[in-house]
Amino acid sequence: MKILTVMGTRPEAIKLAPLAKRLSETPGIDSRVCVTAQHRQMLDQVLAIFGLVPDHDLDLMRHDQGLPWLTGAVLAALDPVLADHAPDWVVVQGDTTTTFAAALAAFYRHVPVAHVEAGLRTGNVRSPWPEEMNRRLASGLASLHFAPTEGARDNLLRENVDGSRIVVTGNTVIDALLAVRDRIAADHGLRAELSAEFGFLDPNRRLVLVTGHRRENFDGGLERVFGALLRLAGRGDVEVLYPVHLNPNVQAAANRVLTGRSGVHLIAPVDYLRFVHLMGRADLIVTDSGGVQEEAPSLGKPVLVTRDTTERPEAIEAGTARLVGTDEDDLVRQAGELLDDPDAYARMSRAVNPYGDGRAVERIIERLVRAQLH
Ligand code: UD1
Ligand code: UDP
Repeated sequence: MKILTVMGTRPEAIKLAPLAKRLSETPGIDSRVCVTAQHRQMLDQVLAIFGLVPDHDLDLMRHDQGLPWLTGAVLAALDPVLADHAPDWVVVQGDTTTTFAAALAAFYRHVPVAHVEAGLRTGNVRSPWPEEMNRRLASGLASLHFAPTEGARDNLLRENVDGSRIVVTGNTVIDALLAVRDRIAADHGLRAELSAEFGFLDPNRRLVLVTGHRRENFDGGLERVFGALLRLAGRGDVEVLYPVHLNPNVQAAANRVLTGRSGVHLIAPVDYLRFVHLMGRADLIVTDSGGVQEEAPSLGKPVLVTRDTTERPEAIEAGTARLVGTDEDDLVRQAGELLDDPDAYARMSRAVNPYGDGRAVERIIERLVRAQLH
């Protein structure tokens, strides 16, 4: 069975690396990896950590690329790879432009698509934008749907997807997270190196770890979140650490509001090993990232989600994440409550595992093999 796994951005690579590695070790499977390189540096960081060497690198990223251009570029550049390799399956993950365009390219070549992390929905096509539409379109193009949770499966069933084509697997991000967490735990030298590298952090101050990059927050939302971060840093007992996403719109806003401000550390995106270490160190995480919402509950870290909608309700229901939106006062108030009220903090910092048990990859491969046999 020939499987072509296609990925383009940092989160897709984190979530597909454990699958691609395992596929390459599975007898009877000819597994290849194609990166669109929708992201470049942030993708390469992940490939390096997981020791993943792509068979095809389309090297597409351009500065401040537009969605129509990128969509067309993925379609045009992937088609010859599909024609050459003639895979039995194309595997895509999530809801990026690479996900949707690669699924469409496969459809045009009559290659069945397996969609990992299928069935997430906010119900609002404008939020997250354009991801909610990308994931719906990917569902329309896919023949196998690997849903991370029962809720995601129910979403697909409501859209009349054939139940026999859906498998609830857990999210592969937990496979990645546990592997990296174990790697750090097993390596004393590495732990010492990571601690030294972040030795600039003050052990006497609480650490608020931040990520933020959503397009629907470009229109003022990011700035309001940054205003709240400045006020939190101004308390004196809190430090903010923010590895700034390389999207130029995010860079510009972060530099404008946060550069050189006391108690705020802006750093370049860190590799996944380092980010897992930092999540472990953090007292509180403020994020609009999908992946971080899935990882933090496993680590028992409270998360304030700076979005108006989420397609990941499980952590909210479990009580470890809260949807706070991008209102400055609200964010300051909710973060303050967690920092000042030990009971409120304890309630949100229980480790729970709504997104998986680290065996998603196993379940995905089992179903792909079964599809080939029938
Ligand atoms: C993309 C995805 C988003 C996903 C996010 C994860 C789409 C439409 N957006 O958003 O769903 O949540 O990735 O991070 O698919 N850049 C670099 N180096 C990098 C990465 C990005 O310089 O390694 C800059 C480039 O100028 C690039 C720009 O960021 O043109 C935007 O990248 P793009 O992938 O189009 O959008 P993201 O905002 O990263
Ligand atoms: N992450 C990372 N380095 C960083 C920031 C985040 O490795 O500096 C990881 C994080 O643990 C999560 C993923 O990147 O697994 C999230 O990526 P991103 O926020 O870019 O995308 P999203 O999850 O919103 O699609």
